[in-house]
Formats: sequence, C-alpha cells, structure tokens
Amino acid sequence: MQNFKGRDIIDINDFSKEELLFILKTAKKFDPQFVKSDRSNYTIAQGKIAGLLFFEQSTRTEQSFRSAAQKIGMGIIGFNDPQSTSIHKGESFSDTIRIMDSYADCLIIRHPKAGAAKEAAEIALIPVINAGDGPNQHPTQTMLDLYTMLKEAGKLDGITVALMGDLKYGRTVHALSLALSLFKIKQIFIAHPTLAMPEEFLKILVQRGVEYEQFDKLPDNLQADFLYQTRVQKERFQDLNEYKKVKDKFILDATFKKFLDRGIKLMHPLPRVNEITPQLDTHPNAIYFAQARNGLYVREALLGLILGRLT
Ligand code: NCD
Repeated sequence: MQNFKGRDIIDINDFSKEELLFILKTAKKFDPQFVKSDRSNYTIAQGKIAGLLFFEQSTRTEQSFRSAAQKIGMGIIGFNDPQSTSIHKGESFSDTIRIMDSYADCLIIRHPKAGAAKEAAEIALIPVINAGDGPNQHPTQTMLDLYTMLKEAGKLDGITVALMGDLKYGRTVHALSLALSLFKIKQIFIAHPTLAMPEEFLKILVQRGVEYEQFDKLPDNLQADFLYQTRVQKERFQDLNEYKKVKDKFILDATFKKFLDRGIKLMHPLPRVNEITPQLDTHPNAIYFAQARNGLYVREALLGLILGRLT
C-alpha cells in the first residue's frame, strides 16, 4: 500500500514505478469502463477545497481538474486570469500562494516559468500539484498518458513508444520520456533537428539503460505501439521566425491512415493546431480524445490520494 496523503506532485522523477502503477490502479476505480456507477464518489472529498491558480492558458487540464474535484465532492476556488486578481496591483507570487494556501486544501498551479510549482510547494503547507511549469514538466499529463497506454495495450513493459513534434519545448514529452524510462519500453524520438529531445533527457535514458532511437522524419516502416504527436510550442520560441520555419514540418495528414491501419495508436496531449488532420479522428486507433477523457479519472484518483481520502 502507498501513502500519498499530503504529497506534492511536482516532478515525475519523485515517483517510483510502483507508485505510478498504484496511481493508475486507483484511477481505474473512476473509469466507467471498469466501474459501473460513480454516484458513491461524491462523498470522497466532501468539504475539501481545491485552489486553482492558472497563470497560463488551459482547457483540458483546468477543466478536468475542476470536473474531477467536483466529482469527488470538492469545492473549487481560484483563477485562470491572474490580471483579475491582486497580482494586477503588484502582489507577489509568494504572497498569492500564501493567501490561497490558507483558503484551500490543495493547490493546482500552472505557470509559464519552469520551477514555479516547486516554488509554490515550498511556500504552501498544503499539497501542490504541478499542472505545467513552462517547458519543464507536466506530471499529471504523464500519468494520464501512462494510464491510456496501459488501458490500450494491457501492459507497459515490452511496448514501444514514439514521441514526435516539439521534443525541445514540449513539457509533456519531457515528463513522459522520464516516466517511460522506468519501464521496459523502447523510445523513438522523431523531430526536426532544432526541436530534438534535449541532451539532458537522453543522458538519463543512457544512465537507465533505456533503448532509444532518433529520427528527423517519420520513418515509413515505423514499428511502435503508440505514436505520441505534439504541438510545436509557439509560445516558448524567442524568435517567431524560427517557429515559422519548423511549425509545419511534422503534420500527420490522411496519408498517416496506413500507420493507424497497421495498429499504431495515435496519441496527442492536445490542443492540436494543425499537426493532426481531423480526417483521422474517426479511426479507432486515433485515441487522443479518449486520452483526454482519461485525465479525469487520473485526476480524481490523485486528488483523493493526496487529500488522504483514498488509500
Ligand atoms: C499540453 C500542455 O499544456 O503542455 N496541453 C495539455 O495540458 N493537455 C500540451 C500543449 O500545450 O501543447
């Protein structure tokens, strides 16, 4: 049994393979594919308050946390437009965290600066969840990605995962690669050379003895269980001309159907801009919308666990 009560969720490296598997197992309890009724869940965290601090835009992460919190009986406070708060008057980050800390039972923070969630966790006494800190990490996205892979493939050890698109600035692929490296999973990186997986992450794979390959375009004979496509992270480029040069290099159009027919499952953390054509959406192996839905179950589990209301 694992004890997650009071724990911060900041960095995927803070979690062992066993802990990740325990979270995925707990998430199954909220997934209607495995459990018929969710009515009893409404009392799990009754009386607890989630404090949402979204300093950066979000659709899925914010709304699924809101939904997850309410599905387990929590109330919600917070903001998604810092300009509507006293930050606009010049209040500091640390004062904002201290105030929210006293009104809530856990904090969920998204911020454009790498390290902001960790900083918040050092200030707050209540558990803090990193909902994305700049180009650094997005650990709850990783947990829902792992949940999706486990649900679809029935196992994690022994699969092959290809990560494609913006591997330089994409926080989802950074945290995902680290988590995958805890399992016997081969990793394939496909990116334009200027958006390649940073050396620091490749070094960790070498240290952990993980098998990986790198390509600068999608290999026609790709052998993988999953292809995880990502958006080029426009907002992280210093020079927009550099963004324009690479933004359309890795588009999956209707010709990608043959890969899906071969059994490769297509994932994407979303939002997509134009890197997956909607024509692929109806293919049974295009699983990005199911993946986003899985985020709800994983976040219900995580909130219940860190509040000590699930064991
Ligand atoms: C991702 C993010 O914010 O990092 N979105 C998400 O949370 N599902 C991916 C992205 O913005 O490209």
